[in-house]
Amino acid sequence: MSIDNEILRTIRARRSTRRFTGEQITPEQLDALLEAAIWAPSGGNNQSWLFTAIQSADILAKLNDVVREGFGRYVPDDDYPGKHGMREYAKREDFNFHHHAPTLIIASNKPNYENAMADCALALENIFLAAQSLGLGSCYINQLHWLRDDIGVREFLAELGVPREHTICSSAAIGFAAAESAVPPRKSGTINVVR
Ligand SMILES: Cc1cc2nc3c(=O)[nH]c(=O)nc-3n(C[C@H](O)[C@H](O)[C@H](O)COP(=O)(O)O)c2cc1C
Repeated sequence: MSIDNEILRTIRARRSTRRFTGEQITPEQLDALLEAAIWAPSGGNNQSWLFTAIQSADILAKLNDVVREGFGRYVPDDDYPGKHGMREYAKREDFNFHHHAPTLIIASNKPNYENAMADCALALENIFLAAQSLGLGSCYINQLHWLRDDIGVREFLAELGVPREHTICSSAAIGFAAAESAVPPRKSGTINVVR
């Protein structure tokens, strides 16, 4: 029989949420998520990250417009199909890069730091698992990373306190799930144990 406990159940139960109710999370819930983020490990204990939480519907709507404009200028530097699809989606009236989540947490880090992405990704997973444990939905949102060098996006984020020199690693959409997410099956052949 496999080992089971609360954390393992939380890890298995977490899903990417892409449909949110309009309800905002509480200040205590946001605090708990941000606290979970800063307790993640970091290379050399750098802790050079910054987590910027946006909860204003007005600012999120403006950011969505800024991201839409950014995609108008965006030329994908690789063949990742999601990037091309997102550029097309950004032309649509109903475009919303954070799935209408009422809270968006942006993880940025100091420039030219080799572990910037790894540190922020670990912190984001802490956020996702903490969200799951609190009955909240969450989703990794990559578009701000793709547009991290876009002048319009950086200008807008600078106004929100994200340092201009920081690299934008990723972001997390957070809120209450409006629907259960499908469970993407896990691929076989991805584990190799040597004893
Ligand atoms: C690096 C990374 C980037 C991702 N970017 C996005 C994104 O921009 N938008 C989105 O809706 N989901 C995004 N996801 C979520 C994945 O699509 C999701 O984790 C995957 O389909 C598995 O589903 P699950 O999280 O429910 O297990 C991203 C996940 C990772 C790890």
